[in-house]
Amino acid sequence: MITIDGPTASGKGTVAAIVAATLGFHLLDSGALYRLAALASIRYGIGKDDPAGLANLVEALHITFREGCAQLDGVDVSGEIRAEEVGNRASAIAVHPEVRQALVARQRAFRKRPGLVADGRDMGTVIFPDATLKVFLTASVEARAARRHKQLMQKGFSANMNNLLRDLRERDARDMNRAAAPLKPAADAKTLDTSGLSIDQAVEQIIGWYSEVRVYKLKCSKVPRRKRGVY
Ligand code: DC
Repeated sequence: MITIDGPTASGKGTVAAIVAATLGFHLLDSGALYRLAALASIRYGIGKDDPAGLANLVEALHITFREGCAQLDGVDVSGEIRAEEVGNRASAIAVHPEVRQALVARQRAFRKRPGLVADGRDMGTVIFPDATLKVFLTASVEARAARRHKQLMQKGFSANMNNLLRDLRERDARDMNRAAAPLKPAADAKTLDTSGLSIDQAVEQIIGWYSEVRVYKLKCSKVPRRKRGVY
């Protein structure tokens, strides 16, 4: 179990997908679940400040992930959920403990053999606190805005750099300062600043950390339980 948490546009989605593919692990993009809930709330007219209505909506959502595509009610919405409007709405509804709680079981259900790489904001702190390796991926707000700009242009969305910087700062503040499961590194997380790193370098670092932690944990599990002070 590897968790990769971090602010928006820190590169965690891309890095998590490559780490998962390299290790042959499953992948959980928890942000996609919040984005699907956000898209559904817009479609069904549930207000962003109606926690009970939103939690009911989340419980009833028919979500499937198939070959990298996110489906809502059987329809592929992978492109739609990446729009900035949906991301901002996802951040706004994610402040409600009721919404977060309604998504816990769905996220934990992704944990399957041979392993899982989960990316988000609270993967290491709340959803999978016993993960083998916890990574906190970060990057300067300028580097993240430039990446998000490139991503949006490639997907055919229009984007303005100043608006992106403002939105990223607002989203960071909301994700970090909310009372429920705020964005922060787990006490035992390794922090990786990707501002000056390529995707390959970030992936290499995480796979390296994972190999080290695994070897260490395997060695420890071979020491007789009595010698480890476990009776
Ligand atoms: O990672 P992302 O940008 O796709 O996430 C969209 C929003 O969803 C993010 O701004 C906050 C929320 N989110 C969250 O609160 N907890 C998570 N584990 C993942 C996402």
